[in-house]
Amino acid sequence: MQTPEFILVTTNYDTHIALIQLNRPKELNALNLQLMLELKEALRELDANDDVRAIIITGNERAFAAGADIKQMAGKSAIDMLNIDQFTTWDSIKKTKKPIIAAVSGFALGGGCELCMTCDMIVASETAKFGQPEIKIGVMPGAGGTQRLTRAVGKALAMEMVLTGKFISADEALAAGLINRVVPVELYMNEALKLAREIAAQSPVAVRLAKESVLQAYNGSLDEGLVFERKNFYLLFAGEDQKEGMAAFVEKRAPLFKGK
Ligand code: HXC
Repeated sequence: MQTPEFILVTTNYDTHIALIQLNRPKELNALNLQLMLELKEALRELDANDDVRAIIITGNERAFAAGADIKQMAGKSAIDMLNIDQFTTWDSIKKTKKPIIAAVSGFALGGGCELCMTCDMIVASETAKFGQPEIKIGVMPGAGGTQRLTRAVGKALAMEMVLTGKFISADEALAAGLINRVVPVELYMNEALKLAREIAAQSPVAVRLAKESVLQAYNGSLDEGLVFERKNFYLLFAGEDQKEGMAAFVEKRAPLFKGK
């Protein structure tokens, strides 16, 4: 793999743990297309590396990731979005066989929340904030949010988060079943490493098949749900409210939605 620009990858062969750090700090790790391609490639390589038994994805203290890159998406049409086909990248991340732990501090919003829900476990700092705020920029979750969030926290909270864009705290996320544990901010990486070490000490083949089996229980009609969600996400790029919502974000003003 060429040296990636927006992620940092380190591998510890003593512990068999690999760490991927999302690295666009000024943009709160907004997930542009290149970052997602780099993440996909890194996961593909780590998945094929027999010396790696657990993978941690993290951001920094301020942000895990504040969502897909709104500036990159703002001017796109529905057909542009369809042709860019970024969800093929997301689908291949979903297929990683090794266990992935998200170590989350600060914002995990939109695609950032969807990325950590695509991971197998989530360890959060007390400062973590989870949310699907796409509704505020005239769209909706597109990378699994309506499906995975609803399965994790139930309809009531998922509906409220998706329809209002409200954020929930790490403690609320723990109570709702979205995440595995919450620790003080100075400990979240240690805690993720501790969990990764416990998993890396097990039989890699048993871990692989056990992960696959847990996901199978959870899968059901998830793929149908994702296809459904994706069509609706693309459809919103045919409307004026998506242009207005994203332009307003870039211009730092309140959006004026017209329902068109
Ligand atoms: C592009 C982003 C960004 C994003 C933040 N930035 N989030 N750029 N895409 N998703 C940029 C800001 O424009 C700003 O750049 C810099 O990061 C710091 O952000 P601020 O807004 O100044 O910080 P703060 O006031 O602390 O507010 C933090 C925030 C806010 C609450 C997280 O940035 C925010 O609301 N971000 C957008 C969250 C969101 O709507 N996410 C969903 C995206 S859609 P400048 O240049 O001004 O310094 C999505 C769809 C996924 O994820 C499905 C398809 C994959």
